[in-house]
Amino acid sequence: MSIIHYFSKDPDKRARFIFNFIAPYYAKFDKSLQEGFEASVKELDKEIIIAGKTVLDIGTGTGAWGAAINKLGPSEIEGVDFSEKMIKQAKKNHPEINFHHTNAEDLSEFKENSFDVVTASFVMHGVKKDKRQNLLNEMKRVSRKYVVLHDFIGKTPFSIKILEFLERSDYKNFKKYFCDELKENFSSTKKIPARYGSGLYIAEK
Ligand SMILES: C[S@@+](CC[C@H](N)C(=O)[O-])C[C@H]1O[C@@H](n2cnc3c(N)ncnc32)[C@H](O)[C@@H]1O
Repeated sequence: MSIIHYFSKDPDKRARFIFNFIAPYYAKFDKSLQEGFEASVKELDKEIIIAGKTVLDIGTGTGAWGAAINKLGPSEIEGVDFSEKMIKQAKKNHPEINFHHTNAEDLSEFKENSFDVVTASFVMHGVKKDKRQNLLNEMKRVSRKYVVLHDFIGKTPFSIKILEFLERSDYKNFKKYFCDELKENFSSTKKIPARYGSGLYIAEK
C-alpha cells in the first residue's frame, strides 16, 4: 500500500494505510499498553465479571486490550482487525488469543449472540458517525448482552490531540455525541471515567 492512500477519500483505505504503517511501532509499546489497560480492565471486571465469559474484541490492533482482558479468565477470547499488519503483530505477541483479519463493519463470520461481551478499545473515536453506527450494529448483533467501549472520556491530553489530528479522527464529535448515540442503540448505558482522559462506556442490550 503506497503513501497515496493517506490522502484517499475512502476512510477505510486511509485507516488501513495508517494502521499498517504504524503496526511495527505500535507493537513495540504493546506490553506497556497492556499494563496501562489493566487498571481499566479491573474497573470493567467490577461491572461485568469476565471470568468464564466469552469475549470478542474488535479493532484489536496488536492485541494489548484483549491480552489485558484475558488475564481476568474469560472462557474464550477472540480479536478482529482490518489491518493485516496489526493482526500479524497481534498473533506474534499473543499466540494464546484467536485473531481474525476482518472488517468489523461486517462480522458475518460470527452468528447472532455468539459472545457474552463485545469490546472495542480506542476504535470508535477514530471513525465518523455512519461507521460508528455500522460497528455498533454488528457489535450488538454478535453480543448476547454487553457492548463495552474503552475510549476517550473528558479532557484529551495535548500529545493525543496531535496524534488524532494526524489520524484525521473524529474524536471531537465522538466526545460530544457518543453517549447519545449509545442511548439510541441500547436499553441501558453507563460511563466510567478512568485515567488520562480515557474510560469505559458500558452498554447493555
Ligand atoms: C487506535 S487502534 C487501537 C488498537 C487496540 N484496540 C488498542 O486499544 O491498543 C484502532 C484499531 O482499530 C482498527 N480498526 C478501525 N476500524 C476497523 C474496522 N472497521 N474493522 C476492523 N478494525 C478496525 C485499526 O486497524 C486499528 O488497529
